Formats: sequence, structure tokens, C-alpha cells
Amino acid sequence: MTSIATKTVLRLAHVSKTYGEGESSVEAVHDVSMDLDAGKFIFLMGPSGSGKTTLLMLMGCLLRPTTGSVHIFDEAVSSLAESSLPRVRRSRIGYIFQGFNLFPALTALENVEATLNLKGCRGAEGRAEARNLLERVGLAKRMHHLPEDLSGGEKQRVAVARALAGNPPIILADEPTGMLDSKTGRLISEILRDLAHEEGRLVFMVSHDSRITALADQIFNIEDGCLQDGSRQ
Ligand SMILES: Nc1ncnc2c1ncn2[C@@H]1O[C@H](COP(=O)(O)OP(=O)(O)OP(=O)(O)O)[C@@H](O)[C@H]1O
Ligand SMILES: [Mg+2]
Repeated sequence: MTSIATKTVLRLAHVSKTYGEGESSVEAVHDVSMDLDAGKFIFLMGPSGSGKTTLLMLMGCLLRPTTGSVHIFDEAVSSLAESSLPRVRRSRIGYIFQGFNLFPALTALENVEATLNLKGCRGAEGRAEARNLLERVGLAKRMHHLPEDLSGGEKQRVAVARALAGNPPIILADEPTGMLDSKTGRLISEILRDLAHEEGRLVFMVSHDSRITALADQIFNIEDGCLQDGSRQ
């Protein structure tokens, strides 16, 4: 097996994913290979149903490939036992889901704290770190509000803060600007870009939003599950 260069934090080799079996099966991702480096802000663009969320879930160890392999740092995560995957997700991946996906009954602070608790940071330490993460995304003054009392941009900041719990080297974001107006979408994108450029994380983001593509270091296009040749490196 070839070893991964130190800068490459996520590698997909000939990854395909088929949902279901027989005549009703859908091949959502077809033969995708990518080497993604630390410190980069990378976009994945493509029409609805083209396989973006599926690809992100394969990267985040939320789905297993049908064929091919996923490596995170030098670990072949697609070959790991199911029981090992929570450890990989906890330590390596921060995931921002399509939609805000916050717990509606918990305040902003409690939403972030709950994720920290799951990652093993509990009690006073968890609370202090949750405050710290919300301050970093500019939400210090709104941390005791419930999601329903926050604007779309504020909710997405909570989702970003939550993805930063446990200090993961890889942030995967599924259309984090999709439900935001263009100014707020740009602000969120700038926060994500800074997490890549200033903190050396790999930030990989699904976007439909052509207004913010200038911020990306690299853009991949996907159609019908296949990466397109026009992808900008
Ligand atoms: N759990 C599932 N079972 C069966 N088919 C699925 C499942 N999830 C997704 N699909 C199908 O796989 C294809 C890719 O879906 P996916 O959600 O990855 O697309 P997407 O690019 O994220 O779309 P959108 O932009 O609408 O979010 C679609 O044809 C979809 O219907
Ligand atoms: Mg999707």
C-alpha cells in the first residue's frame, strides 16, 4: 500500500455507493477518487440528487462505501469495524448537516455543550469550552437563546461551533449557506475559510451558491454521482 503524504488528510480511492439492491438500487456515487489536503477550503457543487450528501457522509464515516476505500490520515477507515467508527468520527470529523439540525429544546450553549459531552468533554470544562466555541463564531451574546429565537445565520454559527467541538482536523459542511441570505452566507463561508486557512483544517463544503465560489481554493463538480472533468484544482 502506498503511504499518504503528510499534507493529505482525506483520501478517497475509487469510491462508489449504491443504495438498495436489485432493480430499485441507486448508485449515488460512482468511482470517485480525491486527495484532500490540510489547510484547504474546498467546495463540492452539483445539482440536486447528484450525490453530494452521500459523498460527504462517506467522507465522514456516516456511510460505508459499496466499493473503494476511504483513508483519514493514514487509517483505512472504510475497513474498520463498525465499533471503531465512533472513535474516528469523534476525534477527526466535525459535521455540519444539511439544515441546521439543532436540538430545538436546547439553548445555543446547551447544543454545543451536548456535543462536547458526547466527545468526552464534560462538566465545567464542557460548559467553558462551549462558551469559548460560541465566542469564536461571534455568538457570545446569544448563547442562552433557543434555536427558534435565533436568525438563520445565528443558527448556522451554532452548527459551526458544534462542529468545532473536540477540535477536529476535518470539517464537513453540507450546504451551510443554503438557507441563508447572501450576506449572511458569505459571513458563514468566511468563518469556514478561516478555519481552513488560519487553523490548518481541511474544510470541505457542499454548495449550490455560485456567489461564494471565489472563496474556494478548489472546486469539485459532481453530476449523477461522477466527478466532472471541469473540477478546478
Ligand atoms: N437512503 C437512501 N436510500 C436510497 N436512495 C437514496 C438514499 N439517500 C439518497 N438516495 C438517492 O441517492 C441520490 C443522491 O442523493 P444525495 O442526497 O446524495 O444527493 P444531493 O446531491 O445531496 O442532493 P440535494 O442537493 O438535493 O441535497 C439521489 O438519487 C437520492 O434519491
Ligand atoms: Mg444533499
